[in-house]
Amino acid sequence: MTTRIILSRTLRILLLLWINTLPVVHASRYRARSCAGSIRHVHLAVGHDPATQMTVSFSSVRSFHAPLVGGVLIGTSPDNLDVYIEEKEHRYYNATPDKAKHGEYHSPLLHAIRIKDLEPSTTYYYKCTVRKRHDESPLEASETAWALRGNSLKKRKDHSHDHDYMKANQQQEVMRAEEREESSADNDDEPDQRSRQLDLDYYDGTQGECPPPNKIRTFQTGPALGSLDQTKKTNNQPSLKFAYIGDIGQFEHSQENIVHLVTHERNNLNAIMLAGDIAYTGYDNRRWDTFFDFMDDFFMVDEIPMQICAGNHDIEKEENSNEIFLAYEHRFDMPHVQPAQLGVYDGPSGHLNMDAPPYPLDYEYGNAYYAFSYGITHNIFLNAYSSMDPGSIQYKWLVRELQSVERRVTPWLIVTMHVPVYNAFDVHHHDLQILAAKEHIEPLFVQYKVNLVVAGHIHAYQRTKNVAMDEPTPKGPVHVVVGAGGRQCKAQFQTEEPAPWVAVRDATRYGYGTLEIFNATHAQWDWVVTGHSEYQDENVLWKQTDTTFPPLRHSDSVVLENQFFL
Ligand SMILES: *[C@@H]1O[C@H](CO)[C@@H](O)[C@H](O)[C@H]1NC(C)=O
Repeated sequence: MTTRIILSRTLRILLLLWINTLPVVHASRYRARSCAGSIRHVHLAVGHDPATQMTVSFSSVRSFHAPLVGGVLIGTSPDNLDVYIEEKEHRYYNATPDKAKHGEYHSPLLHAIRIKDLEPSTTYYYKCTVRKRHDESPLEASETAWALRGNSLKKRKDHSHDHDYMKANQQQEVMRAEEREESSADNDDEPDQRSRQLDLDYYDGTQGECPPPNKIRTFQTGPALGSLDQTKKTNNQPSLKFAYIGDIGQFEHSQENIVHLVTHERNNLNAIMLAGDIAYTGYDNRRWDTFFDFMDDFFMVDEIPMQICAGNHDIEKEENSNEIFLAYEHRFDMPHVQPAQLGVYDGPSGHLNMDAPPYPLDYEYGNAYYAFSYGITHNIFLNAYSSMDPGSIQYKWLVRELQSVERRVTPWLIVTMHVPVYNAFDVHHHDLQILAAKEHIEPLFVQYKVNLVVAGHIHAYQRTKNVAMDEPTPKGPVHVVVGAGGRQCKAQFQTEEPAPWVAVRDATRYGYGTLEIFNATHAQWDWVVTGHSEYQDENVLWKQTDTTFPPLRHSDSVVLENQFFL
């Protein structure tokens, strides 16, 4: 045995020992980081015009403390943040879902600062600030601790550009995956072990440190309308690249996905799109805090805008007031059509995040549905849980939106919605939302030659051929399901013989999708595999239910031709 092998074994054993000392966090034993009220959960979203507008969102002290005024210092050099932009008003919400189980919940103050008049394709540096009043100077991080007695602020090394840190993180993931495989191999016949293994643990952020309070972050604005991004080149050609993750949650495989994305795509991405079912809070709003703690640990969504789409797990009916979508609306700030009209659901009690919530629910505008052009793409985000029926507010807005797309300027038209119109798997076939989308919305997609429809909901991956009303046709949109983003990747095929519109279907791998736009006529779609599902044995699935498609190994890669020009 060479010294090198001995050394690497020793290192491995040491790492394993260290990992074993980390506490195993079960569903009931987790904690959001308070960070003594200092700035955290920083995330970006594009404004109406991503070339000139960006919205910075973050959390500070809990809302039961005196209000603080959030703002952003910004400039084109880290040494000269010469412009100060303040929020219009801070937001927060209180919630009491499952009071008996979880107690009262008060969100942190949720700040959203909409920045305008930026230059296209330009790198900006920014620092988030809070003040007691808008005419006072920014509070130092330590000063926000007045709000949270007894909590000392942890100092944190800024790891954001530290490759060793990312590498260590990846190594940890590999070791954990190995451990999992070892333990499952050892205990295959023991039902207890198996059910424990299948009950996925939430991401454990309790060991993580708080973001450095004075961190100067950076983002880049999008290219001018109708252009590609000259700063991100593939084969020396400018392009645009978006990542799509569905049903991400905050689990081990969510982390796998994020680590993979940060490691491989951090510098290539123009935006990250979440296709609904974001935090999997199970009505416990502290899980929104742990979700953003999770985001904080990977330094990505404070540099790359993250656009969201509403899923059934984002409904979260509030127990006392019957309000729905409270956290989803308050914690993000998408480019609004107009301010949100948040509704209530006062039908029979019961968990609205179950497989089949009632349709439609009352939530218009705000983060529910919205659209923006980015370079040569036009992106529409729909809410399948609001009404999509002809005559509804969303439907009328969507028709106006589709009519107004100027395909000579933005030849690529992409829709993101949580529920899939095409579904080759054996679940969710009776969802009222899917039936409504199929009946009312798909004809619009076909009529207006939408290029790509991205959905989640099914915890699997699927890509259709170009299809219209169940018939493959070169003129129809391509539909993809990217629901294997982190949450329980398991779904049986609906039929052994796949429907004629199926191009790829797989529920054995976790991953994320990327769409890279090369020019008006060509783009590339990739499904990037990042983890193996513990829910099904690929061989069993393969033999019993499908003889046409082998399970995906590394990726599904396809060049999309813009059918608008066919
Ligand atoms: C568009 O991009 C594709 C893929 O890179 C390339 O083959 C094609 O020639 C390009 N078309 C134009 C008009 O540049």
